[in-house]
Amino acid sequence: MAAMTTDTTGTAAPDDEPRPGGPADSPFVRACRRRPVPHTPVWFMRQAGRSLPEYREIRANVAMLESCRRPDLVTEITLQPVRRHGVDAAILFSDIVVPVAAAGVELDIVPGTGPVVAEPVRTAADVERIRPIGRDDVGYVDEAVRMLVSQLGDTPLIGFAGAPFTLASYLVEGGPSRTHVKTKALMYGEPELWHALAGRLAEVTLAFLRVQIEAGVSAVQLFDSWAGALSEADYRRFVLPHSTAVLSGLADAGVPRIHFGVGTGELLGAMGEAGADVVGVDWRTPLDVATGRIGPDRAVQGNLDPCLLFAPWPVVEAEVRRIVEQGRAAPGHVFNLGHGVLPETDPEVLTRVVALVHELSARPADQG
Ligand code: CP3
Repeated sequence: MAAMTTDTTGTAAPDDEPRPGGPADSPFVRACRRRPVPHTPVWFMRQAGRSLPEYREIRANVAMLESCRRPDLVTEITLQPVRRHGVDAAILFSDIVVPVAAAGVELDIVPGTGPVVAEPVRTAADVERIRPIGRDDVGYVDEAVRMLVSQLGDTPLIGFAGAPFTLASYLVEGGPSRTHVKTKALMYGEPELWHALAGRLAEVTLAFLRVQIEAGVSAVQLFDSWAGALSEADYRRFVLPHSTAVLSGLADAGVPRIHFGVGTGELLGAMGEAGADVVGVDWRTPLDVATGRIGPDRAVQGNLDPCLLFAPWPVVEAEVRRIVEQGRAAPGHVFNLGHGVLPETDPEVLTRVVALVHELSARPADQG
């Protein structure tokens, strides 16, 4: 049972007092809220995915987008890493382009490439065609979250969405891009159109996260994976207002909000200001330095380099130890990688990292 109640209007409301031991009182949610924890909680971005043989098996004959729309598959794939690694949180199996597809954008997720958009968004008419969404447009997500919450018991479920800049990059470029050149050209050359597009994407994202929260997720993560491509001044001018609309729009929702991007060392303070309870940090910025930039009012999440998992175990162990130590400088620390699990990762190393983080950070109960 989750520590969420559903009222007669179907809106989930957080209990004032989280049920002791329930998901809202879990080490993960407590760390997000900067409360004392029995151990540093740990989960991995992309923990549900190609590093797991059981995932590859279940996905063998099912396309990525189709699997995201089947609640039975979403539930099984989301649970796989929880069973195998003993992580402190599950993350919903989905993709950042799922709500955009629900909003009417024709796209596919191509294996080995990523999202590919049939007709890239370049004009005001293209922006207008991105429809607002509601629960009925993503009923499969609502259903999957409800199934998961009932099966996860005391383990919290993280919902997520892509942030306006990262989503806009896929829509404008038409697919993954190293430079984001078309996106930036639109941003600098047609700022009004940019703000219309980012504003529309913020509405879709906010609605999508609300569906997940009403269905019972215990936290949400807003992925602005590619925001690190921008200077702080441009981030503040072109992106921050839209990410703020999403995160601040959830201020009353009663669940912690995590905000993450890659290469965002210069943006950490601004990303916190968008309305995050937790700021995700990649491996480039030590957590104690990151905390200095983010301030005492927010927890941090991170930040083992996913490539380090390919090093000999003593090297992995030393790095995990360093990160747990540096995380103590923050008012709350959720251990994670600095970006997603790479497909070639040995899953047994992930399991060992979870056990090690728990062991290194275990606090005697009387201190908790
Ligand atoms: O375990 C989890 O973290 C939950 C599942 C999840 C997926 N995508 C599944 C997925 C999450 C949280 C995402 C978010 C996502 N999708 C992001 C933000 C996180 C990040 O990595 O920065 C981004 C940028 C995307 C877009 C996207 N979708 C990319 C770049 C790719 C990889 C392309 C490839 O094949 O290498 C995808 C596809 C994707 N999303 C896969 C998975 C498991 C692989 C598809 C497959 O298994 O065939």
